[in-house]
Order: sequence, then structure tokens, then C-alpha cells
Amino acid sequence: MKFDIEKILEDVKNTLSEKRYIHSIGVMKQAEYLAKKYGQDVEIAKAVGIAHDIAKELTEEEKIKYVEENKIEIDEIEKINIGLLHAKIGADICKKKYNFTEEMQNAIKYHTTGNENMDTLAKIIFVADKTEENRKYDDLQTVQKLADEDLDKCILYILDYMLVDNVKKQKTIHPDSIKIRNKILLENLKYKS
Ligand SMILES: [Fe+2]
Ligand SMILES: [Fe+2]
Repeated sequence: MKFDIEKILEDVKNTLSEKRYIHSIGVMKQAEYLAKKYGQDVEIAKAVGIAHDIAKELTEEEKIKYVEENKIEIDEIEKINIGLLHAKIGADICKKKYNFTEEMQNAIKYHTTGNENMDTLAKIIFVADKTEENRKYDDLQTVQKLADEDLDKCILYILDYMLVDNVKKQKTIHPDSIKIRNKILLENLKYKS
């Protein structure tokens, strides 16, 4: 099934602030680039990239209302970090509005915390979200270079940064981030032995 990217673009433009719309375009472009590089369907990667933050700017109240009305299960960490819910809500919106497949929904669901069940599309969206051209942080070029070399290494680098940052700020860490980090580390150990 093909997706009407123009329609999604228009909806995202009408839903999000200009700043986040520009970020979404950046993620779409980077997802396109990485999909070509890693042999994924480019149209699918672009559609997921542009839509990934569609629920980001709902208020906390709106997010809570959405998960209740649409019977979306939320975990202990999401209960205290309501912002995280934009991933699950975004996936649900895209399923209902644009008929996104399970794989596409999962890529949106996993884009913030990561998840041990991430496939290549999900990894591309996770990485594209952190490496798109409008991001501004000291390490950006290093992370972009890693994205070019190896998706797993890039994800590991991003997770390490996120985890250390959360520890410094005494913030909770979602178990899914730990699980995917362990999975990548264990797989890499296997290659070495
Ligand atoms: Fe996001
Ligand atoms: Fe994003």
C-alpha cells in the first residue's frame, strides 16, 4: 500500500508548530537517506518520518484523554512522563488516519525510548529523529557519521548519552531503552568472540 505523503505533510503542517514541522521535514529527509542506504522502502520511511511526532504537541490533558478514550495501555514510566505518550498516540493516530501498517506503527511507537523489537525501519526512524539536519547539539556530526556507518552503533551512542543525561538529572529511565542497549551490546560481543 502506498501513502499519500502530501496529505500527511499537510496534516502535520496544520497540526504542529513551525519549529516542529521543520524538524519533521528534517526527519523525513534523513529517513529517506537512511532508507536508501540500508535498503528499506523509501516511501514508507518518508511517511513514517514526517508523521512520527504528529501527537507531540497535544497537551498533557489531551494525551491522557486520548489514551483513555482509545484504550491504549500505558506503563508506570509513561504515567509519570506523559510526554513519552506522544509515541504511542502518534502510532494510533497514523493507524486510524493513514492506515499505517503494524511495522510503521511500531517505528513511531519506539522512536523515543527505543525497543528491543526494533526492526531496520524502526532503527532508521529512531536515528533519523536524532540526526536530522536541524538538530543542534555538540555531538551531532559524530552521531551523523555513526548513522552512516552502522545503525546499531549509532543507537548505542545515542542511548548512552540519553541514559547518562537521565542519571545526572535523576530522571527515570524507560526499561525499553535498557533492553535495546543490552541487546545491541550482547550482539556485538557475539560478533567479537
Ligand atoms: Fe518524538
Ligand atoms: Fe521527533
